[in-house]
Amino acid sequence: MTASYPALRMRRGRSSPWMRDMLAENRLHPSDFILPLFICEGSGCEEPIGSLPGVSRWSIDRITAKAKEAASLGIPCIALFPNTPSELRTEDAREALNPDNLICRATKAIKDAVPEIGVLTDVALDPYTAHGHDGIVDETGWVINDDTVSILVDQAVVQAEAGADIIAPSDMMDGRVAAIRSALEEGGHHNVAIMAYAAKYASAFYGPFREAVGSLGRLKGDKRGYQMNPANIEEALREVELDLAEGADFVMVKPGLPYLDVVRHVKDAFGVPTFVYQVSGEYAMIEASAAAGAGDRNALILETLMAFKRAGATGVLTYHALDAARLIQS
Ligand code: PBG
Repeated sequence: MTASYPALRMRRGRSSPWMRDMLAENRLHPSDFILPLFICEGSGCEEPIGSLPGVSRWSIDRITAKAKEAASLGIPCIALFPNTPSELRTEDAREALNPDNLICRATKAIKDAVPEIGVLTDVALDPYTAHGHDGIVDETGWVINDDTVSILVDQAVVQAEAGADIIAPSDMMDGRVAAIRSALEEGGHHNVAIMAYAAKYASAFYGPFREAVGSLGRLKGDKRGYQMNPANIEEALREVELDLAEGADFVMVKPGLPYLDVVRHVKDAFGVPTFVYQVSGEYAMIEASAAAGAGDRNALILETLMAFKRAGATGVLTYHALDAARLIQS
């Protein structure tokens, strides 16, 4: 039984900045963030992404500076996404297995120039397929699970050989985590971790990302045959359980803000490092509301990121990582 008013006045705890600071239950720190970066071919290139104001694709010679900037702000890790040139996108996504592809060259360049930052690479075929799906498709448009998994395994090994520290399968095929883990072990990549996109929903918030990696105009149909139904949470817990049983080191929930309940459930049920991806459409939503005068941009950024901490997230992939780290430090 607690005291009641007037002995108890909750506002005492809010009565000064130092008091509020002392009583904060959660804090944001630059080490909470992973910065996603988009890569393009060419040199000296910056290609702004229309639906993601403030976010660009960078050529490899310029992306190392972004990685350096992130490291100097205390951000521990970056996530790389390539925009593969059109002529290299095929039905079988073979460019994903090219050890000299864009993401592998970028990974090497970053590990050489900024060895202190972690590099996470995405395993899925959508930046490499002519049709924009995360796997290879049959004549009906169905993404073929097991054939896709065997390509994903080779893709993961190629990325690990290029120096990736964390392999993040975002494809939602069944059985891919176990297959990737055993190939990494066989290849001697014992310390390469797997962050499984375990509970990844078929979301309307991925649009700007698809523009950024160049799959938007290509995608036929939708991804509901492999990504999860937004109505479900028990299924999310099963997905997480399976990925952990298959050898995932960390799990991810994606998108972020509309799925905070999933983050909390996963954290409580498994107690494993649980990351959340504040996806491109969420970034665009925050930028649009700030631009429309709905709220102070900096405050909107920090408040939404704090929500993930409150929900129990270990860390957040966010396009606002540089802004947020700067705001926290200032
Ligand atoms: C694709 C992939 C997607 C994202 C990360 N990896 C999009 C999709 O599944 O279509 C979305 C990230 C974002 O929207 O910021 N494998």
